[in-house]
Amino acid sequence: TYVVTDACIRCKFMDCVEVCPVDCFYEGDNMLVINPSECIDCGVCEPECPAEAILPDTESGLEPWLELNAKYSAEWPNLTTKKDPPEDADDFKGVDGKFEKFFS
Ligand code: SF4
Ligand code: F3S
Repeated sequence: TYVVTDACIRCKFMDCVEVCPVDCFYEGDNMLVINPSECIDCGVCEPECPAEAILPDTESGLEPWLELNAKYSAEWPNLTTKKDPPEDADDFKGVDGKFEKFFS
């Protein structure tokens, strides 16, 4: 599966949603997550994210993000159509420590 990491927080560009063939993105206030049991591992979302927030879970160190994606995709609503990103999305691109400050 692919997972969304903290780089998505407050960026939420949502280009990923447009390309996912199985509509497995779920929307929180500040970030999106992927449902790992629905993702078919096609990889098309990874290069679409302007924040480089999406990675395959085969990369090392992503276990906490896999858990977070699994947990919140079961709670948050499904998102199948791109909306307008936050107006200040670009200000949060590549910023460190977003999870601690802004995850909700
Ligand atoms: Fe959707 Fe493919 Fe990305 Fe999985 S890897 S979330 S199926 S676009
Ligand atoms: Fe987030 Fe990137 Fe999608 S910023 S909403 S994972 S396009």
